[in-house]
Amino acid sequence: MKKMPVILDCDPGIDDALAMLIMYQNKEIFDLKLISASAGNTPIDITTKNIQFFAEKFFNGVKVAKGIGKPLKVVHPETAEDVHGVGGLGNYQIPEQNYPYEEDSVEVMYKTICDSKEKMNLIVIGPQTNIAKLIQTHPDVVSKIERIYAMIGSINGIGNVRPYAEFNAFFDPDAFKIVSMSGIPMTINPMELGHNSRLKKSIFASANAKNDIQIMIQSIIDGLYEWRDPSLVSIFDLHTVYSIVKPELYDFVPCDVNVTLDGKKDGECFLKENPDAKNYYISLKNPAEANGEILEDLFSME
Ligand code: RIB
Ligand code: CA
Repeated sequence: MKKMPVILDCDPGIDDALAMLIMYQNKEIFDLKLISASAGNTPIDITTKNIQFFAEKFFNGVKVAKGIGKPLKVVHPETAEDVHGVGGLGNYQIPEQNYPYEEDSVEVMYKTICDSKEKMNLIVIGPQTNIAKLIQTHPDVVSKIERIYAMIGSINGIGNVRPYAEFNAFFDPDAFKIVSMSGIPMTINPMELGHNSRLKKSIFASANAKNDIQIMIQSIIDGLYEWRDPSLVSIFDLHTVYSIVKPELYDFVPCDVNVTLDGKKDGECFLKENPDAKNYYISLKNPAEANGEILEDLFSME
């Protein structure tokens, strides 16, 4: 089967880590050209270090680039160490990293996209700062990108970090606005999907972990703290990748992407159904069935 050329931009982050593990388990699908770090769940130095760790352990040889350390315009105080832990990977501690990385993710991304014979796909599961800067700096890149698969925003203008805004959208609303207006088709994994498919944390703790990777998954999840209900965990980002690996588990709804940028509800997002739109939002056909498959996949990883 022909591999999908892809760049991953992420802010690991526990659910980013799970998304990377699903990519690792399905390497036959992805031609992963580059992993770039965005700031978000934790500061850029931590997300970059976590990406170095995953690159060395699971994607050895892939290019790594450090992204922009703060939002394009307005810096909000919120990062998400309270949810993901200070190191960004829950209770899992990684050693100092030496895996090579390049400093300027925008230029590395642009060169990677220009050097590709095929149009590039972007999997973007953190704030969209790097992508927006890429579009601003190199507008010609829009015609070289096939599709953006993003975890961001919500269908009905709801949020987690604010009542009206999901974290990735709120962290850099100007970036999300730029990307949503760029004309690059997006497949959006909205906040509602992760919230409506939360899993019991205890299921991970009681799983029969048979190797280091599965023990790492348990330790990562064990350190995830969701203040709404600490007994449950959302694995938002994983579904962005899983909907590519197992599309049969999802509905794909054509939609327009509307991002609020009014100084009052920056980052608010409405995904309005439009049969003629090139964007989609995804929803799970059967959350319980999907969660069963996800747990089976995570605890069969080797
Ligand atoms: O709101 C959930 C999103 O914010 C996920 O991408 C999570 O990793 C955090 O970045
Ligand atoms: Ca993320």
